[in-house]
Amino acid sequence: MELADVHTVGVVGAGTMGSGIAHVAAVAGYRVRLRDVDDALVAKGLDDIDESLARRVDAGDLDAAAADAARDRIEGTTALADLADADLVVEAVTEDRSVKQSVFSDLAATCGPDAVLATNTSTLSITAIASVIDRPERVVGLHFMNPAPVMPGVEVVVGERTSAATADLAHAFADDLGKETWEADDRPGFVVNRVLMPWINEGIRAYEEGVAEKGDVDRGLRLGTNVPMGPLELADHIGLDVVLDASETLHEELGDRYRPAYLLKRKVAAGDLGKKTGAGFYEYE
Ligand code: 3HC
Repeated sequence: MELADVHTVGVVGAGTMGSGIAHVAAVAGYRVRLRDVDDALVAKGLDDIDESLARRVDAGDLDAAAADAARDRIEGTTALADLADADLVVEAVTEDRSVKQSVFSDLAATCGPDAVLATNTSTLSITAIASVIDRPERVVGLHFMNPAPVMPGVEVVVGERTSAATADLAHAFADDLGKETWEADDRPGFVVNRVLMPWINEGIRAYEEGVAEKGDVDRGLRLGTNVPMGPLELADHIGLDVVLDASETLHEELGDRYRPAYLLKRKVAAGDLGKKTGAGFYEYE
C-alpha cells in the first residue's frame, strides 16, 4: 500500500483525539469514517469537529468553503462494518491494552488485508496491541498530540513486527496531513510521554512539596523555558486521568523514577480531571 492508495481513513473512537484526527484527515482531503460505540458519542465527536473547524476558520487558517467540504467528507457511524473499505485506520479508544486489542481483532476481521492499522496509544506497547492479529506487520503507532488540529508533530512508533513499508506509509500520511514526524522505537512512552510525564509529575510534586504556589510553578516553566503551558496547566489540558494512566504504565514498566505524584492520584480519585470536568489544578468555566 502506497500513500496514493489511501483514500478512506477510519477513525475508531470519537473522543478528543479521535475527533481531532478526523478533523485533520478530512481537511487534508481524505474521506473519513468516524466510529464510536453509541450515537451520543458519535454526535459529540462531530460537534467537536464543527467547533474545531470553526476555530481554524476564525483564525484565518482555513476558508469557510474548505471547512464545509472537510466536514462533508466525515461520516459518523456506530458500525465498525462501515470501516470495511478504509485504507488506513487510526484507533483512538481508551488507554487500556485489552480494549485496544479487542478493537484490533475486530478491525482485522473487518478491514481488507492491506489496510494499515494504526494506534494513537500514548504509552502502551504497539507490539502487544499488534500481537492479537494475523498481520502485525501492518500495525504502527501514529501518536498525535492534543489538540491534533494545531499541534505540528506526530510520533511514528515502530513495533517489533511493523514492516518498513508500514512505517514509511505512516510518515508519508502524517506528512500529507501537514504534520512533521519523528520515529520512536516501541518502548514505554516512546519519546514524548517518556520525557513529558516525569516533567508533569515533578511540576505537581514541586507544588505539593511547597517549592512554590501552583501558579508560580507554571509561570516558572513558561517564562523560564519558553513552553506554552507549565506542567499543571498542561496536565489539566491533557486530562488528569490520561496523565495518571500514562504515568502508571511508565511506572510499571520503567520503575520508581516514574512514580505518579500523590496529588495527581488524589485529584483523579476526586473526579477533578482538568478542563474537561471544569476543575483540575485550576477551575474552568
Ligand atoms: N481545534 C482547533 N484549533 C484550536 C484548538 C482546537 N481544539 N485548540 C486551540 N486551537 C487554536 C486556536 O484557534 C488558536 O488559533 P490561532 O493562534 O491560529 O488564532 C490557537 O490554537 C491557539 O489557541 P488559543 O489562543 O485558544 O490558546 P493558546 O494560545 O493558549 O493555545 C494551545 C492553546 C494550542 C493548546 C497551546 O497552549 C499549546 O500548544 N499548549 C501545549 C499543548 C501540548 O503540549 N500538547 C501536547 C500534549 S502531550 C500529548 O498530547 C500526548 C498525549 O499522549 C498525552
